Amino acid sequence: MKASDTKATLSFSNGGQAVDLPIYKGTLGPDVIDIRKLYAQTGMFTYDPGFMSTASCESAITYIDGDKGELLYRGYPIEQLATNCDFLETCHLLLYGELPNSDEKAKFTDLVTHHTMVNEQMQFFLRGFRRDAHPMAIMTGLVGALSAFYHDSTDINNPKHREIAAVRLIAKMPTLVAMAYKYTVGQPYMYPKNDLSYAGNFLHMMFATPCEEYKVSPVLERALDRIFILHADHEQNASTSTVRLCGSSGTNPFAAIAAGVACLWGPAHGGANEAALNMLYDIQKAGGVEKIGEFIKQVKDKNSNVKLMGFGHRVYKNYDPRAKLMQETCREVLGELGLENDPLFKLAMALEKIALEDEYFVSRKLYPNVDFYSGIVQRAIGIPVPLFTAIFALARTVGWIAQLNEMIGDPDYKIGRPRQLFEGSPKRDVKPIGAR
Ligand code: SDX
Repeated sequence: MKASDTKATLSFSNGGQAVDLPIYKGTLGPDVIDIRKLYAQTGMFTYDPGFMSTASCESAITYIDGDKGELLYRGYPIEQLATNCDFLETCHLLLYGELPNSDEKAKFTDLVTHHTMVNEQMQFFLRGFRRDAHPMAIMTGLVGALSAFYHDSTDINNPKHREIAAVRLIAKMPTLVAMAYKYTVGQPYMYPKNDLSYAGNFLHMMFATPCEEYKVSPVLERALDRIFILHADHEQNASTSTVRLCGSSGTNPFAAIAAGVACLWGPAHGGANEAALNMLYDIQKAGGVEKIGEFIKQVKDKNSNVKLMGFGHRVYKNYDPRAKLMQETCREVLGELGLENDPLFKLAMALEKIALEDEYFVSRKLYPNVDFYSGIVQRAIGIPVPLFTAIFALARTVGWIAQLNEMIGDPDYKIGRPRQLFEGSPKRDVKPIGAR
């Protein structure tokens, strides 16, 4: 962060002492006004619910240009990574700051591959859940439970612990998500296979059974690997901010990532992919394309509380670049599977077209986000709808852990502790119950 020679001067209409606040420039994006001394100098807090104008940290990992619809992981455009790299190369990039050369890639892949198994005791946690438990309920439990097995890597201030915990989490999330799925369908868990790719291994653990050989489809393997890349990181979104705040207390990385899983579950965040697909199913059931107008009318009626799930974004005020790539992947996978006339995909594209021509969406700069098409391609791969957000959590784990390690690796980091504007009752005395 470079201190710029400009500053902001805060003056007060009530004649209070003006305050100079330093302005810092990043490499890309908006400058920031450093308000860390504001309370000491003025006795006042800033007020920014939802952090609409607040930078919570400095970071070098991911940058989004919401107006241009640009997404960079360590400076590389997502379009280039999604077409020229695989997910483990992207993990290396997010964690260590550089794409691996072939030796580094082989070493990192080998390291992750040899950490994909989970402790045999983990399977007994699942037995406590109902068979119809939501996979995100199971994942929130399982990820937090990992901290009970790795006492050798829970000191977040030890760089070696941070690194092995990162590898363990990236390696074990696919195994845990597949176990959560197998548990709900009553099939035996499938162990990881070290001769398969990261995405291929996940497909195998999800869809293979002990009864016959399972052949990984290269098309589905590539599509899934790309889905993981597109979901890997996204600046200081709600779940990443949760992981940072949780980790700032010095808790172990598994507990901090479990907090991220819990936050991602929400329909306003990672749960939107499941909600978007269910929305498309509902429109389909109500009559399909000719019912889109009626649905849009409901969305525009504030009292309906109906949102166009998979649309809109806090930062993107243009098309989410991931949605474009996801739509492309949709087309490829459906084409390869002979499902190019998939009614749901056609419905989604018709809905997008109508929305993008409607003043309500145009004036609010609402465009499709990563969740709008991801459900359609995951459904085509055979992934059940309730598992979509668990797949998002699997992919986002590398982003969460990279952001957590970046924070903890900064010697000046502090425990996060926001303040408030108090509007409750002034101090008063308790009356005896007879007098209340
Ligand atoms: C993710 O932050 C990230 O980076 C998240 C994420 C990541 O990779 O980590 O990108 C992943 O969470 C993507 C977003 C997935 N969520 C959804 O698709 C759910 C539907 N979208 C909305 O809930 C909403 O768009 C948010 C939550 C995504 C963003 O909300 P904001 O920035 O708080 O904006 P807002 O709710 O204040 O909306 C501004 C206006 C409002 O109307 P007015 O009050 O101005 O009249 O737009 C309307 C909203 O009602 N609006 C929508 C809408 N999204 C916003 N109206 C209908 N449908 C929508 N989807």
